[in-house]
Amino acid sequence: MPVISAPHDFNEGHLFVDLKSVLGCPLYLKCEGFNFAGSIKLKAANEMVESAEREGILKPDSVIVESSSGNLGVALSMIAASKGYTFLCVTDSRCNLSTRLLMESLGSKVHIVADLDENGGFLGTRIEYVRSLCASDDRYVWLSQYTNPGNWQAHYRTTARQIARQFPRLDVLFVGTGTAGTLMGCARFFRQWHRPVRIVAVDSVGSVAFGGEPGRRMIPGLGMSMRPPLLDESYVNEVIRVEEADTIRACHRMARRGFLFGGSTGTVVSGAAHWLARHDTRDMTAVAIAPDLGERYLDTVYQTNWVQDLFGDEILDPSHPATPFETEDPAAREADRWPQP
Ligand SMILES: Cc1ncc(COP(=O)(O)O)c(C=O)c1O
Repeated sequence: MPVISAPHDFNEGHLFVDLKSVLGCPLYLKCEGFNFAGSIKLKAANEMVESAEREGILKPDSVIVESSSGNLGVALSMIAASKGYTFLCVTDSRCNLSTRLLMESLGSKVHIVADLDENGGFLGTRIEYVRSLCASDDRYVWLSQYTNPGNWQAHYRTTARQIARQFPRLDVLFVGTGTAGTLMGCARFFRQWHRPVRIVAVDSVGSVAFGGEPGRRMIPGLGMSMRPPLLDESYVNEVIRVEEADTIRACHRMARRGFLFGGSTGTVVSGAAHWLARHDTRDMTAVAIAPDLGERYLDTVYQTNWVQDLFGDEILDPSHPATPFETEDPAAREADRWPQP
């Protein structure tokens, strides 16, 4: 067992769940929630702080400021507490209560914006708020996960290599997209890999990350109300969009088998399952990335009233399959396999 003295020195990077027996999908899930920050964002946070330190941008009296829907905020709170920096997180009213309390417990300040931007999200409002803070006092240092190359480089160096090492014959990788840091780090790595890997970006309906109509999105982490500046679509083979109702079904399905994952893992798994149902999966190796675990979503994704108020009473009906692989009826399975006219 490792012995550590700083919380960011531990990050389990080699755990994969075989979902075959859970969902019927030939899919391996890379679990990124096993570290003291509880999510994949620890990697980006570490890389961005270390590069700001190397470049002399962070000084002892600096106040790190960042816009985050939660997970990056927790990771930065943890690193700031460990290294002695002050951290201010600008988030919005969709941030889970437990995530906000976690940041505050780690000694950070949390400012919550409540005004929607022109795309129906909060990102524009959060960024404006961060800009005005930075203009008011030069002690503020904005790491800017949306534009900072350290965000994708962290995944190029770690996430992608960990997947490649475990699955040297990887065929397809499903990656949820927020800032596109995970997506671009993995996509750039596998572009140089010794065999082609299909990169499938998973977005939520209502996100405008890859274009499309803006709409209501309730699950934080995945999806954007602007085009991610880090995104270079020439590295992405396909984009799939998932309804949040399907996200919820996939999360609950996995929970019924003892795996409590975060909301966006439900999105990625649901998107991957529908994609796999439409392809010949014999001899195919498919991996999806699970950014976090489910405890931060107990009062949302896993709370019956929240789910039914937003998505209707039938959504948790156990007879409704979460993936096409659970459907016993071959006609229904076939209907999902081929796109409808
Ligand atoms: C909770 C959560 N954190 C982080 C990420 C990764 O996002 P990014 O594109 O910012 O690397 C995702 C994307 O699925 C997510 O859902």
